[in-house]
Amino acid sequence: MRTQVGIFGAGPAGLMLSHLLHLAGIESIVIENRSREYIEQRIRAGLIEQWATDMLTETGVGERMEREAMFHDGSHLCFDGSTHQVNFRELVGKGITVYGQQEVVKDLVDRRLADGGQILFEVDNTAAHDCHTDKPFITLTHDGKDQRIDCDFIAGCDGFHGICRPTFPEGALTFYDREYPFGWLGILSESPPPDDELIYAYHPTGFALYTMRTPTLARLYLQVDYDEDANNWSDNRIWEQLHVRLGGTRKLQEGKILQKGVTAMRSFVCEPMRSGRLFLAGDSAHIVPPTGAKGMNLALADVKMLSRAIADFYRSRRTDLLDSYSDTCLKRVWKAQRFSWWMTQIFHVFPNEVSFDRRRQLAELDYLAHSTAAQTSLAEQYTGLPFD
Ligand code: DHB
Repeated sequence: MRTQVGIFGAGPAGLMLSHLLHLAGIESIVIENRSREYIEQRIRAGLIEQWATDMLTETGVGERMEREAMFHDGSHLCFDGSTHQVNFRELVGKGITVYGQQEVVKDLVDRRLADGGQILFEVDNTAAHDCHTDKPFITLTHDGKDQRIDCDFIAGCDGFHGICRPTFPEGALTFYDREYPFGWLGILSESPPPDDELIYAYHPTGFALYTMRTPTLARLYLQVDYDEDANNWSDNRIWEQLHVRLGGTRKLQEGKILQKGVTAMRSFVCEPMRSGRLFLAGDSAHIVPPTGAKGMNLALADVKMLSRAIADFYRSRRTDLLDSYSDTCLKRVWKAQRFSWWMTQIFHVFPNEVSFDRRRQLAELDYLAHSTAAQTSLAEQYTGLPFD
């Protein structure tokens, strides 16, 4: 087989890249080691920045989102027994979209297949070769047959555990890493979500987040120990803690818990995001802690840049945008890293934290709740920083 761009991974980064390249008249093949069902069911965060919402709509994959998503002007902060709204639209003229990541994935898969795109699911033994030449190629096993795909470029959109990052030459990468001493218990509940917007809560027993998927499906998160077993959390314990931590907010309605699981939290960046003709995008190059839900947004930002750089190369044979891809992405990545770390550290209770830290966190939240300057900074970052 031969294609222009071989793409590892059918998550939001790989699928969106394939879609954007298609719109620019460039062929690609997406390879994915999981099944279509698996990638379409995988529950992740569900918050899309304004520019990314616009990009989905403008590139023709936003039709179901426009119908089914919830569009919010702001979010709520809850601490010390009261709740405060931050209205992003009034502050920066932008909002956010609440629409599950797996819904974006479904819409992109449908669109790629309708446009005649190739996605090979359940591939095995994948490897990227000769990335330092101008004839890189991929090998894999699909339907029991060994195959080779010759490409001009390879995109590693295969997540944190993917094979593309380890393909970089020894010593070529610098890693920046931070683990957090807690995790999130994520819960999907058949109950009405908060009546309008998300609620982020700081409480002495830990962070809680009240968000949603549909008007009848609430998504809730609780700070738990990083190695917590979700089975230690009975439905009663979950609701009891949610009531405590979201105390002072509007009434929390209980419902049947459909799914629960623990997510570890980490910050991770590898630099650079390119080696020869192999380009990393999304979680293969960086992970943010979930507070603020920047993961998918960063992945989409990477492929917006990568698709432009590749399209410019085919149009003009110039390599400037390919050469600056890593630096351009990393500027945004580090700002999102800083924002996600900042959101995480003001809302979570750290083990062994001293009373000074608690007072500092409360002072920061109080400042956010009452200062237009602080809220504007939050709004600008939460709804998505502008592109340079
Ligand atoms: C969601 C997840 C987040 O981490 C967040 O900050 C906001 C919303 C969500 O799953 O809806």
